[in-house]
Amino acid sequence: MKITTSKKMPEKPPNKQTEFGYFDDEHKEYVIIDPKTPYPWINYLGNDGFYSLISNTTGGYTFYKDAKFRRLTRYRYNNVPVDSGGKYFYIREGGCVWSPGWKPAQAPLDQYQCRHGLGYSRFLSSKRQVHCDLTCFVPLGTRAEVQRLRLSNRTEAPKKLQLYSLLEWCLWNAEDDMTNFQRNFSTGEVEVDGSHIYHKTEYRERRDHYAFYSVNSEIQGFDTDREAFLGLYNGFEAPEAVTRGRAGNSIAHGWSPIASHFLEFELGPGETKEWIFVLGYVENPAGEKWTADGGLNKTRALQMAADFDSGEKVTRALAALADYWQNLLDAYQISGPDTRLNRMVNIWNQYQCMVTFNFSRSASFFESGIGRGMGFRDSNQDLLGVVHMIPERARERILDIAATQFEDGSAYHQYQPLTKRGNAAIGKNFNDDPLWLIQSTLAYIKETGDFDILEESVPFDNDPAKANSLFAHLTASFDHVVNNLGPHGLPLIGRADWNDCLNLNCFSQDPNESFQTTENRAGEVAESVMIAGMFIAFGRDYVALCRHRGHTEEAERAERHLQAMATAIDRHGWDGDWFLRAYDAAGKPIGSHANRQGRIFIEPQGFCIMAGVGLDDGRARTALDSVNKLLAYEHGIVLNYPAYTQYHPEYGEISTYPQGYKENGGVFCHSNPWIMIAETLVGNGDRAFDYYTRLAPAFREKHAALHKTEPYVYAQMIAGKEAATPGQAKNSWLTGTAAWNYYAVTQFILGVRPTFDGLLIDPCIPAAMKGFQITRKFRGATYEISVANPAGVSRGVQQMWVDGTAVAGNLLPVFAPRSYHRVEVLLG
Ligand code: BGC
Ligand code: NOJ
Repeated sequence: MKITTSKKMPEKPPNKQTEFGYFDDEHKEYVIIDPKTPYPWINYLGNDGFYSLISNTTGGYTFYKDAKFRRLTRYRYNNVPVDSGGKYFYIREGGCVWSPGWKPAQAPLDQYQCRHGLGYSRFLSSKRQVHCDLTCFVPLGTRAEVQRLRLSNRTEAPKKLQLYSLLEWCLWNAEDDMTNFQRNFSTGEVEVDGSHIYHKTEYRERRDHYAFYSVNSEIQGFDTDREAFLGLYNGFEAPEAVTRGRAGNSIAHGWSPIASHFLEFELGPGETKEWIFVLGYVENPAGEKWTADGGLNKTRALQMAADFDSGEKVTRALAALADYWQNLLDAYQISGPDTRLNRMVNIWNQYQCMVTFNFSRSASFFESGIGRGMGFRDSNQDLLGVVHMIPERARERILDIAATQFEDGSAYHQYQPLTKRGNAAIGKNFNDDPLWLIQSTLAYIKETGDFDILEESVPFDNDPAKANSLFAHLTASFDHVVNNLGPHGLPLIGRADWNDCLNLNCFSQDPNESFQTTENRAGEVAESVMIAGMFIAFGRDYVALCRHRGHTEEAERAERHLQAMATAIDRHGWDGDWFLRAYDAAGKPIGSHANRQGRIFIEPQGFCIMAGVGLDDGRARTALDSVNKLLAYEHGIVLNYPAYTQYHPEYGEISTYPQGYKENGGVFCHSNPWIMIAETLVGNGDRAFDYYTRLAPAFREKHAALHKTEPYVYAQMIAGKEAATPGQAKNSWLTGTAAWNYYAVTQFILGVRPTFDGLLIDPCIPAAMKGFQITRKFRGATYEISVANPAGVSRGVQQMWVDGTAVAGNLLPVFAPRSYHRVEVLLG
């Protein structure tokens, strides 16, 4: 299909574009210019509860808070063709039908652009000289998606046009909705009232919520029954109603309820008309469900629709959304020598961090929204990428997560966002889990200085009767490792550690057993060197916190355990050229020269070095050289090498993946920043940055076709060097990669690092980088930091000036809120 970019389009590509699109930094958008991207390239709408996923052809779905239990619109994953189903429009002139996002009608467009921006997506298209400008977003503080659709007649003659909207309701519980047809085909209920279409399935019984879809003008018809609109044997591409040119005014009784508005109108020469569609979610308290005469109480829906019933109101809401984002992003802005670095740090990486914060690993085009709630491990790590932007929400999140912890420090592996209660549906006994709570809480305190959070009373196991201070939760986390040591004095791995596919106590021979929830052996032997490194890395912070709080005895007790762990790593965790990965249930090493496959793993190299092990005796450098030699390749650093070629029941899921994919020799992107940070700790700024550029989406944009997933966000995995398709990414958006890369590049490469007492300035950059400027908001003050590197070093602050005065050292103090300070930094 031939897509031409119109000369009339106001926006000119500021940078060289790829065949699929380009970054528009000025508008903070990624502009897609061909609807047939190598995979659907999506965006997230919504910031706080009401969310839509939207692809570059307007596919996707909407939910409130919980993608499993409050799904508003239906979506069929892994559909044929890919990404079929969404919130669609059909424009019809004469017999010709097209869609502003190309799909579903798929009629060739004369122009097409999808502009994914921060919290909105805009589709600009043209056919038969009818120009369409569609903007979809979720206004701040609103439980609704708003779609502003403008049509312009760019000819000299009047045009008679029709417009059909379409969405398909989900019967709320997304899992039940795609399995329980014997019931669901009889429960669906709708109501049409003027231009408002209500979805009220199960409202008559236990639900206190309904959804609606309205448009701010009179309609000439509607449909609410899918079969009546599409025809039983049609897909979304050619609905019978649209082909016929007339809506059926159908009312659904069970089967599959939809919402479609039908509009018929004339556009004069040069004329533009605008409509505003609102897809909203309403909750009515028990006493307010019904009107006096027993009807649906529509007050809240009508109010919500009225809030966006004019162009001015929508424009205001869009401006407020833009301000909201600008304000968030302003917390850390770099102006550096490389546009790609700037756009990652300033826009896209921060944006992705907010998305992972909101969704954990629940809903993407790879996560179905029904499988996983909020992960304990995942959500803690996601906080690293957002504490500087949304400290209050980070605080709330920490307390929610901590409430799912058990008194012995272990944790539910996930909780459901709607209820905030932990459950074991996706496993438990991951022995790394407790430690991530220490890391996230410490990151929060360093950012905010809010030590008071430690005194908050937080339940264990969501049971208010078992509440204790957050500080007691951190102690429990720390002690969970202390109380679960194996034969070498290293931490027992439990079901698994961060690498949840290294299942050393599972021994599964049954293909119907999940590696994530099965543990067939007691687990008293298998140990993790990665957890050992984590324990020291985060445990040192715990000790510093204890000292800061004056808990000297606890600090000393903890320090003794850290020392013992360091000794255990020295004795049993070093393999000669790198750190060992683990000991299996038979006490045999993994990630060792002694192994034929899986000889070296990435995780312990990153974590032991972040823990400081081997920094003073050369082992850190040796391990990093091994990583460079054996694990790193053009598209990133693979997780392990050589990959396993056969199933090992004693290792579990890791050995189920074909070589080079996922946890078996894939570039598991989340773990790469650990190596970047480790490289900065040995002063190797060139390598740290080199690794950064191998993964950072803006630097990989040139590989767009190969990479496949969105060129503006990180993916969980890029196929590794032993894979059949090296360089191909999967599982974009919801991955700890976002937060960790942000943390690595901002705090260790660019080196602006919050501490209890101020901002530490300690860049570790490529020697050729001449300098950069960073504006950092920290505890209410603004730091305008300018780093110069005339001598071409990688690391080392030679002198620092604050507001023109030379200061000693490289720690910037906490300044008064709302004050502004100029900082000059000379490296050398
Ligand atoms: C994947 C992991 C994931 C786990 C839990 C495994 O199949 O390989 O990356 O964390 O499932 O969903
Ligand atoms: C993905 C999971 O979300 C994360 O929790 C896990 O640590 C990684 N896979 C590594 O296996």
